[in-house]
Amino acid sequence: MPGGPDAVPQIVKKHCRFALERGDSKIHRWGIFTAEAIPARRRVIEYTGQKIDSREMFRRRVRQNLYVFLLKNGFAIDGAIGGSGAEYINHSCSPNLYARVAGGHIWFVSLRRIEAGAELLLDYRISGDYPPVECRCGSAECRGYLNWLG
Ligand SMILES: C[S@@+](CC[C@H](N)C(=O)[O-])C[C@H]1O[C@@H](n2cnc3c(N)ncnc32)[C@H](O)[C@@H]1O
Ligand SMILES: [Zn+2]
Repeated sequence: MPGGPDAVPQIVKKHCRFALERGDSKIHRWGIFTAEAIPARRRVIEYTGQKIDSREMFRRRVRQNLYVFLLKNGFAIDGAIGGSGAEYINHSCSPNLYARVAGGHIWFVSLRRIEAGAELLLDYRISGDYPPVECRCGSAECRGYLNWLG
């Protein structure tokens, strides 16, 4: 099953601008790490996957591992199908990436210089309408939850 508990992250190089590798994360299961330093404000990896509407998203919510990026127009991209590896990037309340959505593409862009060997981290900002998910990012700025209530 796509994105099942035994799936192993595959990084698709054509969607990456820098050398990346999968690894064990201190935060949760698998994570994506840099294999070289990345300067600030650079596209790092494109988030790819299958485009689905909100009804299909609702149907898939029962999956054990969800790898979806929610778009503002009600659609979502399911990285479990045709994902670049970006779907394995964990959440941090003190991230080193942000998501830039433009021209039908989702790029994860570096917020600052990221050293080689660092875990790539994104602030998921899951809506407060969804059940709270406890955060284990361990940063000094940790909000306690993956949800964004602000
Ligand atoms: C898209 S997956 C990220 C990849 C995941 N580590 C894996 O190996 O499948 C998102 C899931 O990872 C977990 N996760 C990611 N960041 C987390 C964090 N800061 N604290 C706790 N769990 C986290 C949550 O279970 C979340 O639903
Ligand atoms: Zn946190």
